[in-house]
Amino acid sequence: MSTSAEPIVPLHVAIIMDGNGRWANARGLPRTFGHRKGVETVRETVKAAREAGIGFLTLFAFSSENWRRPEAEINELFGLLKAFIRRDLAELHRANVRIRVIGDRATLKDDIRSLLLEAEERTAGNAGMTLVIAFNYGARDEIARAAARLAEEVRAGRLEPHEIDAQRINDSLDTAGIPDPDLVIRTSGEERLSNFLLWQAAYAELMFVPEFWPDFTPELFRAVLERFAARDRRFGGLSAKPMAAVGS
Ligand code: IPE
Ligand code: IPE
Ligand code: MG
Repeated sequence: MSTSAEPIVPLHVAIIMDGNGRWANARGLPRTFGHRKGVETVRETVKAAREAGIGFLTLFAFSSENWRRPEAEINELFGLLKAFIRRDLAELHRANVRIRVIGDRATLKDDIRSLLLEAEERTAGNAGMTLVIAFNYGARDEIARAAARLAEEVRAGRLEPHEIDAQRINDSLDTAGIPDPDLVIRTSGEERLSNFLLWQAAYAELMFVPEFWPDFTPELFRAVLERFAARDRRFGGLSAKPMAAVGS
């Protein structure tokens, strides 16, 4: 990608929606209340992203490591995803939003699998913003599954090992066809990636905000986008911004 004509609005924003449990705890409520409130923030954030002209919005909804949580909380998170798709799919479709899902679907139950597939198929022709839902997603798992797929191609004689390059790996990931995130946002003050888009975020700008996910308002989102616009992205090259070049 060229560094000279960076758009002010990021093409792809990916969000680690963190802090639902702490938001609830701070109010003396069970963690599940935080997750429910978090779904409202998802709706507002999708709308704000569309209004900002963002092309791709990825939301980290359930990680491959979140299976370590108590079963009741896992059930709540799965229930909320199902309810979200059932309730919001028609409206997202009307708003011309395309839905893509990344993560390992092979291990999910049939009902949720067919719901995710329905969301993708129904919105496949939409040309507005793409909403990427990362569910049962872990970057290491994704990369391992891509490697296995490539190994199968080699074994079948359709691919030579020396033909495996970064582009080929890109095309084998769950995110095939989705541009790399320009901006990764994490709420709740934690400053780590927690196995999110490790390959794709190679040159993403990282932004950590202290607010818990249920408190992440469209105004805060817009403020983060403004901070992004001021960043000097170099991609290993030299600055395209005249001011930065002065001091060098
Ligand atoms: C984010 O909030 C939602 C998911 C990880 C599914 P958490 O549930 O991680 O909330 P905290 O980090 O414990 O506060
Ligand atoms: C990352 O948050 C996963 C999601 C937001 C879905 P976690 O709360 O699971 O991450 P850790 O455990 O704090 O690293
Ligand atoms: Mg957390």
